Amino acid sequence: MKILVVGGGGREHAICWKLLESTQVDEVICAPGNGGISQIAKCFDVSAMDIDGMIALAKNENVDLVFVAPDDPLSAGMVDAMENAGIRAFGPSKKAAQIESSKSFSKDLMKKYNIPTAEYEVFESAEEAKQYIISKGAPIVVKADGLALGKGVYVCTDTESALRAVDEIIVDRKFGSAGAKVVIEEFMEGPEVSLLCFCDSKTIKPMVSSQDHKRAYDGDEGPNTGGMGAFSPSPEYTDEIQEYVEKTIMIPTMEAMNKEDCPFKGILYIGLMLTAEGPKVLEYNARFGDPETQVVLPLLDGDLFDIINAIIDEKLDEAKFSFKDMNSAVVVMASGGYPLQYEKGCEITGLDKIDKNKAMVFHAGTTIKNNQFFTSGGRVLGVTAVEKSMKEALLSAYSQIENIHFDNAHYRTDIGIKQR
Ligand code: AMP
Ligand code: GLY
Repeated sequence: MKILVVGGGGREHAICWKLLESTQVDEVICAPGNGGISQIAKCFDVSAMDIDGMIALAKNENVDLVFVAPDDPLSAGMVDAMENAGIRAFGPSKKAAQIESSKSFSKDLMKKYNIPTAEYEVFESAEEAKQYIISKGAPIVVKADGLALGKGVYVCTDTESALRAVDEIIVDRKFGSAGAKVVIEEFMEGPEVSLLCFCDSKTIKPMVSSQDHKRAYDGDEGPNTGGMGAFSPSPEYTDEIQEYVEKTIMIPTMEAMNKEDCPFKGILYIGLMLTAEGPKVLEYNARFGDPETQVVLPLLDGDLFDIINAIIDEKLDEAKFSFKDMNSAVVVMASGGYPLQYEKGCEITGLDKIDKNKAMVFHAGTTIKNNQFFTSGGRVLGVTAVEKSMKEALLSAYSQIENIHFDNAHYRTDIGIKQR
């Protein structure tokens, strides 16, 4: 079997790597891919958002399956377009991907079907949004409705900054059309857990839990990023919590999507906050998370190719897999300045010094020229380790990251600090 993976980050590197483990998979190709991915999968220069280009590539290369990994092409309807062109594709339809691409859609869904989440209201008018903020007071959370690369969320400790956030989103249109509506939410507190689930619209099965570190700097300081590191499993996420989440969140969400005529077939990422009142949904994503995938897939004891085919055929109940009783950690090495301004094109050295028994390196933003890797994005590399204990996994990842160098490299030194 030959598979095309759409995307080009650390998540896609981990997906390509895991698919290649399957005895049924002969070849994986990737578009646009990156320098690291090109070492295991031939990469093609087609943008992840170029639906026609991706269909042409899938046809020219005669692939058996297309795996659409990132949120943007999913919410633009790439899977629907592939299916219409007669190409087998994995990922939710455009309608189902709304669970991620529209916060008002997902919040309304949760309200209608009694799925626990923060209280909220949706506004199109800046004035009305501001009146609501004043009536509720701080702390309060302001979010752009649409996809804003994880940057459209303002957690405000005072009313003033919440009012400014409304202006930035609705009036200044800082996130473009993603800011046509604004969601104002109750502030929640507690540990955050990422729960990735396989879902074929009839069956939903959780993967092992994980925890992400979204802020750029140590001590959870600085701006929100796509994720600076992660570990799995989360010690906070007990079997008892899993049982509760399955009953009150996972199954009700799948059933709600069926009732709304948006059956969800793909990876459902449930962002949870474990509050004093119980687990509540922070957000849904319609895809594998990044960097969570880089810690979850190394623990998957099973054939990813089999599982995604079972999802497409709505036979997930028959798929057999489990998760290793091990711990994994990833530390993301980013370009200095990320997520704001950063340089690209810096030479990366030391990758050849990585002890492969201790860590794997998933590439996120790299290119390769004459056998030499260069930086090409904000998040550059994810150094991942799997060990018996979390302490060892973190130690291994950190011991190996020290070998790698590029100008202005930045990584957090406190990933999983509470677990060490
Ligand atoms: P989101 O993109 O919706 O996951 O939000 C990004 C981050 O903002 C989350 O990971 C949380 O840390 C924080 N956040 C979002 N919503 C809330 C909320 N209602 N209360 C507290 N923190 C929140
Ligand atoms: N790490 C968060 C996300 O993938 O959205």
